[in-house]
Amino acid sequence: MPTPLRCDPKLLEKDLSGQVIIVTGANSGCGLETARQLASQKATVIMACRSPERGQAAAEDVGGVFLAPMDLSSLQSVRDFVKAFQEKYTRLDVLINNACVQKIIHNRRRASMDTQLLFSSFLASTKQGHHGVSFCEN
Ligand SMILES: NC(=O)c1ccc[n+]([C@@H]2O[C@H](COP(=O)([O-])OP(=O)(O)OC[C@H]3O[C@@H](n4cnc5c(N)ncnc54)[C@H](OP(=O)(O)O)[C@@H]3O)[C@@H](O)[C@H]2O)c1
Repeated sequence: MPTPLRCDPKLLEKDLSGQVIIVTGANSGCGLETARQLASQKATVIMACRSPERGQAAAEDVGGVFLAPMDLSSLQSVRDFVKAFQEKYTRLDVLINNACVQKIIHNRRRASMDTQLLFSSFLASTKQGHHGVSFCEN
């Protein structure tokens, strides 16, 4: 039996034109499908992926934007991604922290958690604030 939707289906038809949304780990699985849905609702979806090849291919697939590689295991990579983002965009509406969540929960990988938090705080320095969304169990 299919899992019932946990949100109002009307939300999935809402026009998100003008909304700038970053999805981490957007080249596969939940991140890819999230990016696909948001792009179908006309949001500007920035695909934050560690592999340029996989990120570019996914962005072409769903109509998102691949800006620069972003590997959460490297603070320098996160800084470089944020710099590239801030050079092109002056606002961020939503950050979807999708990549690496389970590893943080199960392995308590401090470095990954720190980079996710730093990623959020770097992005908070964009001119407009944003809402952060983390994928997690429960
Ligand atoms: N699926 C589930 O049942 C489930 C349940 C509970 C929690 N979750 C969590 O939900 C999230 C998505 O799950 P999923 O099943 O869709 O996972 P997935 O298919 O394995 O996708 C994970 C994505 O994260 C990217 N990623 C991994 N390490 C990264 C890093 N260091 N820096 C940047 N990106 C990185 C991967 O990129 P590459 O292609 O380069 O590897 C991939 O695009 C994960 O955080 C997972 O832990 C999933």
